Amino acid sequence: MLKLTNVFAGYGGGDVLKGVDLEVEKGSLTCIVGPNGAGKSTVLRMISGLLKPRGGTVTFDGQSIVGMTAPHILQLGIAQIPQEHTKTLVQVFETIRQMHRAGTTVLLVEQNVRAGLAIATYGVVMESGRVRMQGPAGQVREDPEMGHLFFGGTLSGA
Ligand SMILES: Nc1ncnc2c1ncn2[C@@H]1O[C@H](COP(=O)(O)OP(=O)(O)OP(=O)(O)O)[C@@H](O)[C@H]1O
Ligand SMILES: [Mg+2]
Repeated sequence: MLKLTNVFAGYGGGDVLKGVDLEVEKGSLTCIVGPNGAGKSTVLRMISGLLKPRGGTVTFDGQSIVGMTAPHILQLGIAQIPQEHTKTLVQVFETIRQMHRAGTTVLLVEQNVRAGLAIATYGVVMESGRVRMQGPAGQVREDPEMGHLFFGGTLSGA
């Protein structure tokens, strides 16, 4: 339903997103995980229409949303919910689970790789503005490559 193809985006001189391919299936609980500065929030900003891509396509149910205003995108049913810092991770995840169970398609961004992939149905791993891996959350979680990217490396908070 939501599809990013070869998306480039940035704020100043350089590109922060360097060719992002990403699909959020209807009914999924898709979680983007990745370290600080990977571009996770930038992806969300772009989907919400707050940042325009420099290249690539962003479609929702086959219709391009590039250049649409943020209110227009909201009208399509794409809403961004910022984290409430008064809530614990457990409370946030419980709310997300309830929303998903009620039929809402969820795209979640989470720094905590293990926790994010544990709640998700589909996992997307971002690093340095690129999607490094994606697939069913359980598979991504168990992929040995993840060990190199996060768990055994120098990146903490995973
Ligand atoms: N408003 C901005 N102006 C300039 N550069 C920015 C801006 N916001 C983010 N960046 C840069 O874009 C890159 C990606 O940032 P982004 O916030 O998308 O990462 P993130 O994956 O959400 O990180 P975090 O886990 O810390 O939230 C970083 O190098 C960051 O410094
Ligand atoms: Mg962020």
